[in-house]
Amino acid sequence: MSALLSLRNVWVEYGEKVVLEKVNLEVSEGAFLSIIGPSGAGKSSLLRLILGQEAPTRGQVLLGGEPLEPQCGPDRGVVFQRYSVFPHMSVLGNVMFGLECPAAPIAARLFGSARRKAMGEAAAMLHAVGLGDSLNLYPAQMSGGMQQRLAIAQALIKRPRILLLDEPFGALDPGIRADMHGLITQLWRDYGLTIVMVTHDIKEAFTLGTRVLALDKRRHDPHAPHRYGATAVYDLPLRTAPAVVPPAPPQPDPNPLSAAAS
Ligand SMILES: Nc1ncnc2c1ncn2[C@@H]1O[C@H](COP(=O)(O)OP(=O)(O)OP(=O)(O)O)[C@@H](O)[C@H]1O
Ligand SMILES: [Mg+2]
Repeated sequence: MSALLSLRNVWVEYGEKVVLEKVNLEVSEGAFLSIIGPSGAGKSSLLRLILGQEAPTRGQVLLGGEPLEPQCGPDRGVVFQRYSVFPHMSVLGNVMFGLECPAAPIAARLFGSARRKAMGEAAAMLHAVGLGDSLNLYPAQMSGGMQQRLAIAQALIKRPRILLLDEPFGALDPGIRADMHGLITQLWRDYGLTIVMVTHDIKEAFTLGTRVLALDKRRHDPHAPHRYGATAVYDLPLRTAPAVVPPAPPQPDPNPLSAAAS
């Protein structure tokens, strides 16, 4: 079977500065690829290439065997460490925006039955990430973990073929992180996702990933630190099935009395 995502001899250079060199990578459908490497190794740059936000200076990025569309398409969703949700929109509004935007690019609003359908889809996705009881909250009213759940729902509502995660749990407390590990494993399995996750946490990389890729420089010129870029120095296949048996995602209930009364 051909790879879902292929990077062929990919280079990223900014002027004289080589960030990535000779990166070759084939990611098969359903993989959970963890990417680790020192700060500045080019991990986020690599994700930007896959998103289509940047083009490689040399080489090719193929999705499903075809060259990437230059713009970030609905086949790729992304979650960053923080700040990827819209603060002025409710939880439901944040997720609906993803459905409204491609359907009505100018006004970004849907009406009537199309709007009701989008609301139903968004609410179901929010339920899947454990925010089923928080549809009308605003991001500022939520914890960091809840905001990341929202960011994941926002990325998944467009049903991307690849989910890109750039240190998505890096700012969260250890307990919340463990919950998020359960959630992402569950979503990966339920939605048949292909995931590429950058993390600084080696344990997280090995616990969640089916494969771990380490980016680093193979060569270093002390007189010209920008001369050589990072490349894949290790590429370790681990397993084909999820490693973690996830707990059910918690269902936050902002008002327990209302549930008891109904
Ligand atoms: N637009 C740009 N112009 C010049 N240099 C850039 C640009 N974008 C990124 N770089 C450089 O590319 C290198 C790799 O950056 P990148 O953000 O991909 O690293 P990273 O591995 O994600 O690091 P971190 O772990 O700190 O997030 C850095 O040295 C950075 O300064
Ligand atoms: Mg980065």
